[in-house]
Amino acid sequence: MLETPNPRPPAELSEAEAAEELTWLADTLAAHDIAYFQEDAPKVSDAEYDALKRRNAEIEALFPDLIRENSPSLKVGAAASAQFSPVEHGVPMLSLDNAFSDEEAVEFDARVRRFLRLDGETFAYTAEPKIDGLSASIRYEKGQLVRGATRGDGRVGEDVTANLRTIADIPHRLKGSGFPDVIEIRGEVYLEHAGFQALNDAAEAAGQRTYANPRNAAAGSLRQIDPKITAQRPLRFFAYAWGLTSEPFAETQWQALELLKAWGFQTTPQSRRVEGAQGLLDAYRDMEVERPKLGFDIDGVVYKVDRLDWQHRLGFVSRSPRWAIARKFPAEQARTVLNAIDLQVGRTGAVTPVARLAPVTVGGVVVENATLHNADEIARKDIRIGDTVIVQRAGDVIPQVVGPVLEARPAEAAPYDFPETCPCPLKTPLARETTASGAETVVRRCTGELACPFQRIEHLKHFVSRRAFDIEGLGEKQLQAFFDRGWIKEPADIFRLAKDQEKLDELRGTEGYGETSVANLIAGIEARRAIPLDRFIYGLGMRHIGETTSLALARNFETVEAFLAAARAAAAALEGEAHAQFVHLEGVGPTALEAILAWAEAPPRDLLVPDEASFDTRAKAAIPKLNRTAREALERRFHDWAAFERAARAAVEHRPGEAFRELEAVDGVGPVAARMIGTFFAEDHNNRTVENLLAELEVQPAERPKTDTAVAGKTIVFTGSLERMTRDEAKAQAEALGAKVSGSVSKKTDLVVAGPGAGSKLKTATDLGIEVISEDDWLKLVAG
Ligand code: IVH
Repeated sequence: MLETPNPRPPAELSEAEAAEELTWLADTLAAHDIAYFQEDAPKVSDAEYDALKRRNAEIEALFPDLIRENSPSLKVGAAASAQFSPVEHGVPMLSLDNAFSDEEAVEFDARVRRFLRLDGETFAYTAEPKIDGLSASIRYEKGQLVRGATRGDGRVGEDVTANLRTIADIPHRLKGSGFPDVIEIRGEVYLEHAGFQALNDAAEAAGQRTYANPRNAAAGSLRQIDPKITAQRPLRFFAYAWGLTSEPFAETQWQALELLKAWGFQTTPQSRRVEGAQGLLDAYRDMEVERPKLGFDIDGVVYKVDRLDWQHRLGFVSRSPRWAIARKFPAEQARTVLNAIDLQVGRTGAVTPVARLAPVTVGGVVVENATLHNADEIARKDIRIGDTVIVQRAGDVIPQVVGPVLEARPAEAAPYDFPETCPCPLKTPLARETTASGAETVVRRCTGELACPFQRIEHLKHFVSRRAFDIEGLGEKQLQAFFDRGWIKEPADIFRLAKDQEKLDELRGTEGYGETSVANLIAGIEARRAIPLDRFIYGLGMRHIGETTSLALARNFETVEAFLAAARAAAAALEGEAHAQFVHLEGVGPTALEAILAWAEAPPRDLLVPDEASFDTRAKAAIPKLNRTAREALERRFHDWAAFERAARAAVEHRPGEAFRELEAVDGVGPVAARMIGTFFAEDHNNRTVENLLAELEVQPAERPKTDTAVAGKTIVFTGSLERMTRDEAKAQAEALGAKVSGSVSKKTDLVVAGPGAGSKLKTATDLGIEVISEDDWLKLVAG
């Protein structure tokens, strides 16, 4: 039989190892279930099967946060082979951004008002308890419950209609009237403490496994294949939101909550309507006090802008709404001993120190590893090996070491010396990273780049990760094994492997692999030969090029050929360091830089101030357009005037070329990302890697933006001040209609929307003969 990949006691597993093994156990047990229940042909003895299940339960008990949605422990007996059918949500179920402090809550309020241009005005929010359960979406048609689903990946959930029907808080028929013909009601399925306790007591008495916490118990109970079992669990439901609706039904969140109640749902009685930032803070304090008395778990407070028309204007940023935020309760802490400090090398060579701790339970989870962030943090907090330290966990974030307990410091504990070399076999020196403007950062980087095996494997891991190529059957463990064998050295090798009969045959004979797993691996790889452009770009793992930038690039260039042409052209037109140092200088924005370059380009002129005048006086006289922040930043950087003058002239010489500026002007890219792309494609090695990969792939053009609107496909520039909406809003609106928004006017611009105060961009537009309209014209245009 297959052996568990990790025969060590569960308590010795790191979180990553535990996660990996739970994945393996889920797959293996699922395969055994099929063999036993569907094929009547068990491959292992009952005792072996039970041992695997036990191992799964033991690991889950130590790492409850890692319990998988498809965990074998959540399945029951004979029905385990049945699956829930997928349900596509009418409107995706999104997540919320988090705030962890008063400052962040206040900033949320400021951000919302800034976006809406309501600076100075106070307005209303709802503050609702954030229930710690699992969310569900229930569709009603003409008031009748027709379908219920779990959140799933946000777009597609699982059909748990029969199970949701067993929950008394969920009406089968909406009460009263005034509800839309079709509405997806959203809320949280949860267990009260009492219900959770009773459930665990009964399980224990029956010799069955118990659940680690009410959230897991609720999830396990709802996802029962047999709804009769769900019916025996005391599940509850609070409604707090909605998805698809056939028509609007309320004007405010508060009114919507009242209606949900009138239609027969439970809503949280602790929810309040509050005003302004102070209201947000007060509501949080009150909720902290109420928390222990609630009888169910909450993990924070959700703030939502009350007016729905404003919610609509605010819209979404990637996967979370701009109009809501979750203010989380603070982390839980515990003390333990720091046994060692290991260095982890990331994909980009950044070295992160990791604390190896004597295992300790923090907020119900056993913690053995925690991040120490960077060398400076260790020095600042004076953390020493052997110290008793305070460990903290907040939500799903990686546990952190808060600091040492000085009273408990052993006499022999010595200050920690950060290693000078990478822990990889090459022992490359670690460099303290500096920014382009010369400032030191806290990051230490291994300079080995792709020669460093640690970085190379991290690159590959990134490549196959869920948000990049997402190759099923090729997890980190398998990847590492293939890497160690020398089979996979670069991304293209993954696709070559799927065709390499010799290696595949060898694999079939390898411990842990069989016909099925090899077939699955091949299928997983083949399924990704066709890949959307944004995932392809993201998968390359360029520094600073995350998902959002990748998507912006894909949307802009549409095809991989166009993207590569632009990226390579930018590589050839890269700015020199002399120019870059100004771009990255904090306090010197694009306008200031333009003024500096214009001055440096012009022939030297007498300043009419004495040579011994201060830097500031000379700067004011020479470049009147510089504001104080910029002048101070320059003085901090260059100290004396002559040095600045030399640097500015050099910057003129090393200005980026046209192609670079075009890439930089792509909406959502900007100078830093453009530089990273240019630098990446300036390397022969990287270009070869990309070519090798492309030979294996079919990169799909980016999804076309809307084409049936008045502005679809057009490139629009907004300039001057807008009076009826903010810049962000205008941009979001244009993009939703399929237009591209650019920050600078060029031959490629189709339309300029100019408000009062428009300056050089308006002039350029007029010179180039580009159509210019007012904000009012714009609103008319997009209204259709
Ligand atoms: S509103 C667009 N309200 O928190 C987001 N969510 O991190 C709509 N949650 O998936 C969600 N209590 O499972 C909302 N009063 C509440 C909530 C709540 C708990 C959960 C929900 C959601 C998650 C977001």
